[in-house]
Amino acid sequence: KPLSIVEKGWKTFHPTQYQGFWIHLEFFPGVLACREHFKACKDDIILNTTPKSGTTWLKALTFTITNRARHDFHNHPLLATNPHALVPFLEDLYSDGKIPNLTNLPSPRLFSSHLPYQLLPTSIIESNCRIIYLCRNPKDTFVSMWCFLNNFLPEDEPPVPMEEAFELFHGGISIFGPFWEHFLGYWKASLERPERVLFMKYEELKEDPTFHLRRLAEFLGCPFSIEEESEGLVEKIERFCSFESLTSLEVNKSGKTNRGYPNKNFFRRGIVGDWKNHLPAEMSEKLDQLSQQKLEAFGLTFKDVG
Ligand code: A3P
Repeated sequence: KPLSIVEKGWKTFHPTQYQGFWIHLEFFPGVLACREHFKACKDDIILNTTPKSGTTWLKALTFTITNRARHDFHNHPLLATNPHALVPFLEDLYSDGKIPNLTNLPSPRLFSSHLPYQLLPTSIIESNCRIIYLCRNPKDTFVSMWCFLNNFLPEDEPPVPMEEAFELFHGGISIFGPFWEHFLGYWKASLERPERVLFMKYEELKEDPTFHLRRLAEFLGCPFSIEEESEGLVEKIERFCSFESLTSLEVNKSGKTNRGYPNKNFFRRGIVGDWKNHLPAEMSEKLDQLSQQKLEAFGLTFKDVG
């Protein structure tokens, strides 16, 4: 029987440890080719996350902000296309062994990647293009990942025991993990190169979306104009890309990604603190302790998550 994605993801896993990170070449066979062949341009925008940190949301927001002169809300690509199809993963673009021709894409080109900063294709750093990193507190990210991978199990199979998944995650074994080192790479880069690397938190984006949309637009060199502000465009983009709005679209209810995953699996609760409904106190404490140990010395904390 072939291994299910959950068995590969959480149990037998088969990741390769590559320069200190866990890379899943079975899931992402394009990782090495994209590192070798992707040629970034100065105008490119690269969206980076660990899986389940809000990648889909960030893609929708950034696409809508950067394309706002091209598309109005009534005739918008997001109405019929999942954000992952509009902003492809670099790892996916190079997964079939061919080198894609990306030179004709309209500028600014938008790509995403789960690669840690330390493993990004060197041309991304050398080209000085813009990088946006969205992180999420480890407890919600872990629960979101556990639910996501359990979705792929046949209906009659029980979920993978959370304890098993937790031991791996806590021990640093997660997709493109260790999770904490992934954060730190982008965090340090954002301190060193703030004009090129923007560090965002899912929790803050949820708390004050319009503030962070303005921040995003400014970072991207396309701040909202007085006219746009007066017509309430920032609020409109926020609502257009909200969890409620995206999940109401047929494409996100019934469509599939290019990898064949149901689009609906990328939308679950979309809230901060859902870990409280799933994670036993002991696991929560263990993650808190580890996060404190790994992140606090660098001034990185997650507020209001418990
Ligand atoms: P939950 O499982 O906690 O609900 P990714 O896009 O990186 O795979 O992350 C998926 C997580 O982001 C899921 O979290 C999903 O519900 C949430 N999400 C997707 N779209 C969102 C949106 N527009 N606003 C807020 N959260 C969103």
